[in-house]
Amino acid sequence: MKRSTQNRGHVEPAAPRAALTLVLLFLAGLALYATQSFAETPVIPQYGPDKHEGVSSCDGSTCHGSAAPRNDRNVRQDEYLIWTEEDRHSQRAYKVLLNRDSIRISKNLGREKKPHQDNLCLDCHSDNPPPDKRRSENNAFTVTDGVGCEGCHGGAERYLRPHDSGSTHKKNIELGMFPTDDPVARTRLCLSCHLGDRQKFVDHRLMGAGHPRQSFEVALFSILQPYHWEPDDDYISRGKQAPNDVKLWAIGQAVAVDEIMDAMLDPNRNTLGLFPELVLYDCQACHHGIDKMRRWRPRKSTGLGPGVVRLNDSNFLMLIQALQIVDPATAKLLRADLRELHQAASEGRGNSNTIANKIRGRIKTVLPKLQAWKIDAKVLRTLSKNILREALTGEFADYAGSEQAAMALQTIVFGYYDQQLLDDAAYDALERGELTKLLASVDDPDTFNPDKAKKAFKALQGKLNGK
Ligand code: HEC
Ligand code: HEC
Ligand code: HEC
Ligand code: HEC
Repeated sequence: MKRSTQNRGHVEPAAPRAALTLVLLFLAGLALYATQSFAETPVIPQYGPDKHEGVSSCDGSTCHGSAAPRNDRNVRQDEYLIWTEEDRHSQRAYKVLLNRDSIRISKNLGREKKPHQDNLCLDCHSDNPPPDKRRSENNAFTVTDGVGCEGCHGGAERYLRPHDSGSTHKKNIELGMFPTDDPVARTRLCLSCHLGDRQKFVDHRLMGAGHPRQSFEVALFSILQPYHWEPDDDYISRGKQAPNDVKLWAIGQAVAVDEIMDAMLDPNRNTLGLFPELVLYDCQACHHGIDKMRRWRPRKSTGLGPGVVRLNDSNFLMLIQALQIVDPATAKLLRADLRELHQAASEGRGNSNTIANKIRGRIKTVLPKLQAWKIDAKVLRTLSKNILREALTGEFADYAGSEQAAMALQTIVFGYYDQQLLDDAAYDALERGELTKLLASVDDPDTFNPDKAKKAFKALQGKLNGK
């Protein structure tokens, strides 16, 4: 599917609120770093033990349904308004199940139920807990709300009353609230729908039936959602984490690699033939026109020649960029793992499972290092320099690699602005010029041209030089 990168490219403050949110986010990111254990990700809300009370239990005008942000309380209280007016999770997620595309997908799959009644679709296109975990009185809970508050924040059965009467963040979490502020937990939550997990996923069969391709990057997608929260002083004093955007990006890449390895190991997602699940591969390795035949480029990190199906390694490539600075020894090991994985996965399953397990072990050790990472001007400069250099050597010649690199640069350049390495005018010019062009070059997988993308990377490099 053609995703609007216009939308993604312009993180431009559409409203003062958005601008404020962004600025606060970055200010907040400078403070705090508590150490944290990565033992277990909390249960994803859909599978949790608590009843979901329904959006109608959150939207009261003195609760989260205020018509304007309130400055006298910790939280804005107009979250419901933002969610209904600007957030795709309310505006489209459920509603698309009623449209012709969805009906066609379901028909192609031979599903008996209509998409809006089929758990296969509802599991991601709405908050869809089992029937006994829904507040049925007064129709409080309904899947037609789409991805409602509790689809991310957890079934409110136990925290509903206390969280409104002075209970701490820590206490709320004990009572079933999902820690959306924790970058690892947040990324796993988003990916449970934006990539899939062991209970629900979009495999190549679903894509073949017409489901759009998935792509995700947690820092940028959090901004695009858009923010209905303000990571300000009181946010942090309440014991919440407000990771800097570049840090969130890096942690998000590590978690994505971990989840992709889990997908590779999941027997239910590898049922279609000789190869591991095809959605783990670079779609364009198979799906592009053969008449022009100008797409293939050598890439040193794969060790593969032309005419071979490649994995989609875009998250690996980004993670390696972060680790190059944080933990160069592991970056080197991961490069070797990736090459091994490419080789194995190009020959059917090979020993890809063993390698996948090895990689998951490494992710465990690097997550705490990324969490403790201090993002300063030097980090931003090194990161952008390295990513742009690799882009020009052709490392990101595959569509997904270019797409992730472009999204990363958007986040990093905003970091430049935040750390005052760019003034308003310079940042604005980049937003409207080179960044928009770069994002446009990765807008459409069907017309993607690696040479054009390279030019766009080069133009950005020219502008950032010496900044
Ligand atoms: C693992 C989660 C998951 C499952 C299962 C899933 N979807 Fe999706 N679907 C998504 C996500 C996430 C998107 C948005 C993709 C994007 O824009 O990045 C999406 C997008 C779509 C779109 C395009 C939306 C638009 O705005 O035009 C359609 C149509 C769709 N899904 C239909 C279905 C149908 C029908 C089913 C069931 C047969 C289904 N989906 C199952 C997660 C899922
Ligand atoms: C797609 C996931 C998602 C959905 C849906 C969602 N939220 Fe959030 N919400 C988040 C994330 C991420 C944060 C930021 C991390 C945090 O503060 O915990 C957040 C933060 C918040 C905060 C915290 C503000 C603070 O200062 O502590 C409130 C309140 C909130 N959301 C209310 C709602 C309400 C009400 C709804 C439904 C109308 C809703 N959210 C829907 C993901 C979501
Ligand atoms: C319960 C499943 C679910 C969860 C959890 C979820 N999403 Fe989504 N999200 C969707 C679906 C489905 C869509 C597609 C809506 C549509 O048709 O446009 C979507 C769309 C989006 C979009 C719009 C994408 C576009 O193409 O414009 C953004 C941004 C987004 N999600 C961010 C997030 C973030 C950030 C999180 C985690 C905090 C998250 N989502 C968690 C299901 C989910
Ligand atoms: C190993 C090669 C390979 C990879 C990798 C691959 N596909 Fe496919 N795909 C195929 C084949 C073969 C078909 C069946 C073509 C047909 O029936 O005409 C197909 C069919 C499809 C179709 C249906 C096309 C139609 O004409 O209706 C879609 C959509 C699709 N794939 C999307 C994707 C996406 C998205 C990805 C990446 C996440 C992907 N594919 C990765 C080989 C691949």
